Formats: sequence, structure tokens, C-alpha cells
Amino acid sequence: MKKVALCFLVGMLLITGIAYAEEEACIECHSKITPGQVEDWRVSAHADNDITCSACHGEEHVNANDIAKVQFPDEHVCQECHAEQFEQFSHGKHNFGWTSLNALPITHVEPDELMEGGRGCGGCHNMGIKTEAQKAEQLAKGYRYQNNSCDECHTRHSFSKKEAQDPRACQQCHMGYDHPQWEMWSSAKHGTRWFAKESGRLPEGAKAPTCQECHLPNGNHSNHTAWGFLGVRLPLPEDPQWKADQITILKAMGVLNPETGKPTERLALVQSVDMIRSTKEAFDTERNKMIETCKKCHSESYARAQMEMGDSMLQKADFLLAKGIRIVAGLYKDGIIEKPADYPFAYPDFLYFLRTNGRKIDGMSHIDQVLFKMYMKHRMRTYQGQFHVNPDYAYWYGWAQMTNDLSEIEELAKTMRATHTKAH
Ligand code: HEC
Ligand code: HEC
Ligand code: HEC
Ligand code: HEC
Ligand code: HEC
Ligand code: HEC
Ligand code: HEC
Ligand code: HEC
Repeated sequence: MKKVALCFLVGMLLITGIAYAEEEACIECHSKITPGQVEDWRVSAHADNDITCSACHGEEHVNANDIAKVQFPDEHVCQECHAEQFEQFSHGKHNFGWTSLNALPITHVEPDELMEGGRGCGGCHNMGIKTEAQKAEQLAKGYRYQNNSCDECHTRHSFSKKEAQDPRACQQCHMGYDHPQWEMWSSAKHGTRWFAKESGRLPEGAKAPTCQECHLPNGNHSNHTAWGFLGVRLPLPEDPQWKADQITILKAMGVLNPETGKPTERLALVQSVDMIRSTKEAFDTERNKMIETCKKCHSESYARAQMEMGDSMLQKADFLLAKGIRIVAGLYKDGIIEKPADYPFAYPDFLYFLRTNGRKIDGMSHIDQVLFKMYMKHRMRTYQGQFHVNPDYAYWYGWAQMTNDLSEIEELAKTMRATHTKAH
């Protein structure tokens, strides 16, 4: 009996000894080469569970001369042990980040460093499982990193759950020009309470909703909202004015043909990356999920009233924006603004962002830029500020700026028409 136990013990020592020695090669060498990374891994749940460097990077690279053999783990490697989170993530909106970025014409006229290089657009849109073709395209341009989305919230190599539960994990991407959700949340009451709690000024048990609580409820990695980023939906609203305004906006997105009103090939594209909710059911499902979350702390009537105000602010913002679009579209129609070669129609095209002359870097249309700012910066702030309960964003940074943009567009159009007639 004793002998068997001894054999077992020796056997175990041998097995773990071998595993340890194998691991030591990576760790020993990398403790000198990249010590910070090794330290970071040591504090992770992975280190506690013997998930070593080679579990994610393979075993083929063993020294300074064979670095090309290193594997960079994509999400499928994480999937091997975290199937549930992978599955949820793959059905969420984050999974479309890279594809939707690449679907826009603007992406292909701006510097690669701002896309594949992981700064600018690509710094935030490195979200989503890349296809083999997408990876090959990236490699061909000379970019070999950015293969994993999971480390966008659980940064490597600590891969911590607690870090991802902190609203600051969302900040890098959900901030700034067109989606300042961080600024809106952190300076409104929900965020203020969270910070007060964090600094110990509110008791532990006090309630303060985080981004995660409203958008990844119960730890679910699948994220969607009812309106989405574009703030348009199908079927179109019943109110005739709002419907007309949303049609005008869809034309400026190039989703509807400005001349015929018929869908263009961009509609299929926009639907393929889930940019708009295409049925009433899809919209209501997301809306009701959100209300369930509010109900953890507020009454249902209160929550519904808040959401309805968000919808009607969007409606009012659309009225101003559509007015602006029609003025600029009139300048295209009358030949006062020339159609850029890359634009599909003689009509403003929001998918070129501030490059309002298509591919060219010179001769941009300033009035189009003011219109784009009205759409991308100020319409976003108006309705996002309303939904995130931020008084200043909803009014001064949003709605008030839209009225300012509209008067600037009116003035510019007047001058352009006057000087154009004189020139001819
Ligand atoms: C004898 C030393 C040595 C050993 C052993 C070693 N590496 Fe490395 N590793 C290097 C050097 C040197 C680099 C290049 C660092 C640089 O680019 O500055 C490197 C780079 C890497 C990179 C980054 C490659 C890149 O292109 O950025 C990864 C990932 C990596 N090693 C993982 C491992 C893993 C996993 C193991 C064990 C299976 C391992 N290493 C074993 C020396 C070693
Ligand atoms: C749970 C999986 C996992 C483990 C375990 C892991 N890594 Fe990584 N590592 C990653 C991911 C993900 C990336 C980013 C890949 C990319 O950008 O394409 C990465 C990137 C790297 C890089 C290159 C990027 C940089 O920041 O320099 C190095 C070097 C590296 N790892 C070293 C190590 C070492 C050494 C260990 C063991 C101490 C280790 N890794 C353990 C997942 C892991
Ligand atoms: C070989 C299996 C394996 C692989 C591959 C793996 N993990 Fe893990 N991971 C584990 C184990 C085991 C734990 C600890 C037990 C648990 O929490 O499930 C863990 C825990 C975690 C946690 C929770 C940490 C905490 O603070 O509680 C996160 C987040 C995580 N892993 C992310 C990743 C990501 C991202 C990848 C891919 C880059 C990855 N893992 C790859 C096995 C793995
Ligand atoms: C600071 C991070 C960041 C940068 C930089 C950035 N984006 Fe985004 N982008 C986001 C976030 C976050 C969202 C989702 C916002 C929301 O829903 O409110 C988004 C949404 C989008 C969407 C809409 C996706 C959808 O399905 O509704 C497109 C398309 C897009 N961005 C393209 C771009 C392009 C092109 C660039 C560069 C010219 C760019 N983004 C720069 C973070 C960024
Ligand atoms: C109290 C709940 C709540 C919190 C906390 C919250 N949001 Fe939201 N968020 C909403 C609601 C409500 C909407 C609008 C949903 C709809 O379309 O019906 C929304 C919409 C969004 C959208 C889609 C575009 C938009 O802005 O309308 C993004 C992206 C987003 N939130 C990110 C965040 C981030 C990041 C944080 C934290 C900094 C955050 N949210 C905090 C409730 C919340
Ligand atoms: C948008 C941010 C975000 C991204 C991207 C993300 N996670 Fe998470 N993850 C979270 C949050 C938040 C939690 C904590 C959930 C909770 O409170 O239970 C979490 C928790 C986890 C856990 C711990 C689960 C548990 O309860 O022990 C694992 C494992 C994990 N994520 C794996 C992954 C993998 C794999 C990916 C990539 C496919 C990924 N995550 C991408 C935000 C993210
Ligand atoms: C690395 C950047 C990045 C981080 C970090 C990030 N997101 Fe996102 N998020 C994006 C991008 C990009 C999109 C738009 C995806 C697309 O193009 O379809 C997005 C979309 C969303 C949406 C969907 C909005 C819609 O259209 O319905 C929500 C909700 C959201 N993020 C919440 C969060 C929360 C909560 C966190 C933190 C736990 C977080 N995100 C962290 C980049 C990020
Ligand atoms: C985890 C609890 C919690 C959740 C979930 C939550 N809230 Fe709140 N909310 C609060 C607290 C606490 C306050 C601060 C109350 C005060 O101002 O006295 C607050 C404040 C507000 C306010 C400002 C009220 C005022 O009097 O200034 C509005 C509006 C609001 N919440 C709407 C919502 C909506 C809409 C949702 C869902 C999308 C939601 N909240 C989800 C806890 C929550």
C-alpha cells in the first residue's frame, strides 16, 4: 500500500516537473525580455490554473531566432476554454466592429496606420472575430497584431474579470466626438453615484448602474440596443413628418437612392452588419430588455416615460437634420456643388465622413462638413444625451448646436447661391 502511494507521488512529481520545466523556458527567458508581461500573467487567473504562455502562443517558438513561429491567439483559442462567452460575443454587436468599419468608403481613403495599425478607427473597431480573408488582408499590408477582441475589455496578460466590470473598461472607445457615452454617464447622476460609491462616500449596498449593468446584463457578452448608433429603423415611423425625415436621412447615408427612393446595395450591407433593427419585434425586444434593467431600481412607468422622451427627442433632432440635408441637396441639384467622382449620387454622402469630396484631399465642401458635424456630432449627442440622462449633453452640446449648425448651413447656402449666380 505504502509502495503504491510512493510510486504515485513520484509519478506526480515527474509529470508536474516536466510541465514546469517546459513552461520555465518561456517564462525564464521572457522574465528578462518582457518582464512586465510575465508579471501580468502571474497575477492572472490563468497562472493560478496553470494556463501557461504556450496554451495561447503555441510551442514552436523557443528562442530569439524563430519568432516568426509564434502564434497570436484569436478568439477561437479563448473559445476552447470559454465557449459560453465566445458564443454570446459572436451574436452581439461588438462582433461587427471590424466588418462595419471596412464596409465604409471612408476607411479605404484614410491612412492604414489609423485602421490596421490600431489607432484611430481601427483602435476602437478591433472588435469582432476576423475571417481568414480579413486576416490575410491585414498580413499582406504588414500588420500582424490585433488578432483578438477579448483583450479589449480584459486586457492582456492579466485577463481580469474585475477590470471588465469597471465602466472605465469601456471608456477608450465609448467617448469623444460621436459617442461620448463615457462623458455622459460619468457626469450624470448614475455615474456620479458610482464614483461616490467607489470612493466610499456611499455605502457598499447603494445602487448605481454601470455601462455593463445596462448593456451586458447578467454578464452576457451579447450587446445590442434598440436604436443602435444610426438611430434609424424599419419599418419607418408612422408619423408622416418623421417618416419623411428618416427617408431623407437614409438618402444621405446612401441607403436609399435619392432620385428614386428605392433601396441601394448599401441597404443589404447595412443589414448584414446589423446596423439597423429591421423589424418592430427586433426593436421591441431590445427596448423591453432595457426596461427590465431600469425596473431593478425605478418603476416601470417611470422607465417607459424616460425611454419615450428619448424617442421623441430623436424625432425632433431628425426634423432639424433633414432640413439641413435638403438645403445642401438643393445645392447639388442646382449644380452649385459638383458631384465628387466617388459619390454614387449628386447628394450629400455621410459615409465619407469629413472627407466630403470622396477620395480627394483637396477641394472639400465646407457646407457638407457642417452638415456632417450636425449629423455625427450633434444629433448623436442630442438623443444619446437624453437616453443617458445627461442634461448638458442633451441640450448645450446636442440640440442647441444642431440649431446653430442649421443656421450656419442656411447662411452658407445663401452666400453660395449669390456668388454662384454672379460668377455665371
Ligand atoms: C531563449 C529566449 C526565449 C524563449 C525560451 C522564448 N522566447 Fe518568446 N521571444 C524571445 C525574443 C528574443 C522575442 C523577441 C522580442 C522582441 O521582439 O523584442 C520573443 C518574442 C515572443 C513573442 C512576441 C512576438 C512578436 O512578434 O511580437 C511571443 C508571443 C513569445 N515570444 C512567446 C513565447 C512563448 C509562448 C514561449 C514558450 C513556448 C517563448 N516565447 C519562449 C525569446 C524567447
Ligand atoms: C490566455 C492567453 C494568453 C496567455 C496565457 C499568454 N498570452 Fe501573450 N498574448 C495573448 C494575446 C491575446 C495577445 C495579443 C495578440 C495580438 O495582438 O494579435 C498576446 C500577445 C503577446 C505578445 C506580443 C504583444 C505585446 O504586447 O508585446 C507577447 C510578447 C506575449 N503575448 C508574451 C506572452 C508570454 C511571455 C506569456 C506567458 C508569460 C503569454 N504571452 C501568455 C494571449 C495570451
Ligand atoms: C486552456 C484553457 C484556457 C484558455 C485557452 C483561455 N483560458 Fe481564460 N481561463 C481559463 C481558466 C481555467 C480560468 C479560471 C477559471 C475560470 O474563471 O473559469 C480562466 C479565467 C479567465 C477569465 C476570468 C478571470 C477572472 O478574473 O476571474 C477571463 C476574463 C479569461 N479567462 C479570458 C480568457 C481569454 C480572453 C482567453 C483568450 C485570449 C482565454 N481566457 C484563454 C482557461 C483558459
Ligand atoms: C474612439 C473610438 C472610435 C473611433 C476612433 C472610431 N469609432 Fe466607429 N464606433 C465606435 C463606437 C464605440 C461605435 C458604437 C457607438 C454607438 O453605438 O453609439 C462606433 C460605431 C461605428 C459605426 C456604426 C456601426 C453600427 O453598426 O451601427 C461605423 C460604421 C463606424 N463606427 C465607423 C468608423 C470609422 C470609419 C471610423 C474612422 C473614420 C471610426 N468609426 C472611428 C468607436 C470608434
Ligand atoms: C441606466 C442604464 C444605462 C447606463 C448605465 C448606460 N447606458 Fe448606454 N444606453 C442606455 C439606453 C436606455 C440607451 C438607448 C437604448 C435604445 O435605443 O432604446 C443606451 C444606448 C447606448 C448605446 C447605443 C447608442 C446610443 O448612445 O444611443 C451605446 C453604445 C451605449 N449606450 C453605451 C454605454 C456606455 C459605454 C455606458 C457607460 C459609460 C453606458 N452606455 C451607460 C442605458 C444606459
Ligand atoms: C465589451 C467588453 C468585453 C469583451 C469584449 C469581452 N468581455 Fe468577457 N467579460 C466582460 C464583463 C463585463 C464580464 C463580467 C461579467 C459579470 O459581471 O459576470 C466578463 C466576464 C468574462 C469571463 C468570466 C466569467 C465568469 O463569470 O467567471 C470570461 C471567462 C470572459 N469574460 C471571457 C471573454 C472572452 C473569451 C471574450 C472574447 C470572446 C470576452 N470575454 C470579451 C466584458 C467583456
Ligand atoms: C475596443 C473598443 C471598445 C470597447 C473597449 C468597448 N466597445 Fe462597445 N462598441 C465598440 C464598437 C466599435 C462598437 C460598434 C460595433 C459595430 O461597428 O457594429 C460598439 C458597440 C457597442 C454597443 C452597441 C450599440 C448598438 O449599436 O446597438 C454597446 C451597447 C456597447 N458597445 C457597449 C459597450 C460596453 C458596455 C463596453 C464596456 C464593458 C464596451 N462597449 C467596450 C467598441 C468598443
Ligand atoms: C441600479 C439601479 C438603477 C438602474 C438599473 C437605473 N437607475 Fe436611474 N437612477 C438610479 C439612482 C439611484 C438615481 C439617482 C436618483 C436621484 O437623483 O435622486 C437615478 C437617476 C435617474 C434619473 C434622474 C432622476 C432625477 O431625479 O434626477 C433618470 C431619468 C433615470 N435614473 C432613468 C433611468 C433609466 C431610463 C434606467 C434604465 C435604462 C435607469 N435609470 C436605470 C438608479 C438606477
